Amino acid sequence: MGEKMSIKFDYTNSLKTSLIKNGITVAEIENNSHLCLKAFNRFKKERGMDILGFYDLPDQNVDHITDYIDTVKNNYDYMVVLGIGGSALGNKAIYSALKSTKQLNKKLFIMDNVDPLMVHDILTEIDIKRTLFNVITKSGTTAETMSTFMIVMEMIKKACPDTYKKQIIVTTDKEKGFLRQLIKEEGYKDYIVPDNVGGRFSVLTDVGLLSSAFVGIDIKNLLSGAKNMRDRCDNDCIWKNPAYLNAMIHYLYMKKGKNISVMMPYVNSLYDFADWYRQLWAESLGKRFNTSKQIVETGQTPVKALGTTDQHSQIQLYVEGPNDKIITFLTLENFKIDYMIPNLYPERNEVNYLGDCMLSELLLAERLGTEIALSKADRPNCNIIFPELNEENVGEFIYLYEMQTLIAGYFLDIDPLDQPGVEAGKIATYAKMGKKGFEDEAALIQDYINDKKKQGRTI
Ligand code: PA5
Repeated sequence: MGEKMSIKFDYTNSLKTSLIKNGITVAEIENNSHLCLKAFNRFKKERGMDILGFYDLPDQNVDHITDYIDTVKNNYDYMVVLGIGGSALGNKAIYSALKSTKQLNKKLFIMDNVDPLMVHDILTEIDIKRTLFNVITKSGTTAETMSTFMIVMEMIKKACPDTYKKQIIVTTDKEKGFLRQLIKEEGYKDYIVPDNVGGRFSVLTDVGLLSSAFVGIDIKNLLSGAKNMRDRCDNDCIWKNPAYLNAMIHYLYMKKGKNISVMMPYVNSLYDFADWYRQLWAESLGKRFNTSKQIVETGQTPVKALGTTDQHSQIQLYVEGPNDKIITFLTLENFKIDYMIPNLYPERNEVNYLGDCMLSELLLAERLGTEIALSKADRPNCNIIFPELNEENVGEFIYLYEMQTLIAGYFLDIDPLDQPGVEAGKIATYAKMGKKGFEDEAALIQDYINDKKKQGRTI
């Protein structure tokens, strides 16, 4: 068997070319090499502080996951993940990316909202006796996760009184929190969200690996892909380091007012990765303060689009609207599964050009067309090319974007690892729902509601 091919980063149209007239230049990138040095030093320092655990994840031993899956795989056909944000998006993205090409038989459902209809849909699709429920929450307190957990717990206790304890898995902090206590008291199978890995960087921990192993994904190969990308991103030369280079490209475009970053896969299987990216980029870079506590209100709004579908929805805006975006395509070279378009009407010019073409050929032609249209309109774009949809390429992609996000945060001189805005929302929810200890916040919310009533402008 030949060696597995790595993902490639085509950044041609991110730099100045004959079409991208206002593109950034090689000189601009090189003139900012001091930022790379600064980022590299901060990275070294923060690794020393043990807050960048994601860097070491490719080296971990995953026998605790694969051994467990071996013991349960014949008993269950479904896994429901109860989690939200960093405790759900990566699980979904990996599963969607590999489901078709790996022809995965087991089903994964992600309950990442408190929408009663969504909960109902999932619960009616599974056979509860053949289901593992994996509740994932680093903090162990997130309202959305805890409420669906309690609903499921009650249901499963009734439906499977003898086996329910075996059907609940809890993934949480190794010491802290209510769920850790519950694990001790009731003896659920448990997994850990490491202290030194933030939620949105945690997909390659037990958080994302357990559900992936359950559905039949080779998690060792995922990690080996991540390791391969880590080696590529350890390179001192920015031109050989995709994470530093793409972080720099995005950073320089942000400085030029391109405040939107569109991720546009031309393959449905990678669309959920655009969602995962949105959280990673938005939560990590959207910050009010820089490291010197000055107000900077920085960040770049991540947007997802799907090719070709959104050519008939978004591209008009991207090509002719405000020139405030950088677009990243995700493309696939070898689909493995393909369809030939039959030449049913050879005499009809309206459709005969499509006859005898592969569907993937049409998809790639359309992507090229979009790339050309954007470039002609001076809109910077780049392309992450997946040779195949396999575990290694997915692992590479995950690591690339985690590293790129961290480095972009360093270039912006902010803290890419915190999320005070998210915490503020969580606190408001606790207060509104009457959680003990949040009485002051509850009073503020009540003032707000009263005030809004007075100024009411509903029609
Ligand atoms: O990235 C983050 O830290 C957040 O988006 C969290 O993942 C999300 O809020 C869920 O938190 P928890 O895992 O504590 O339930």
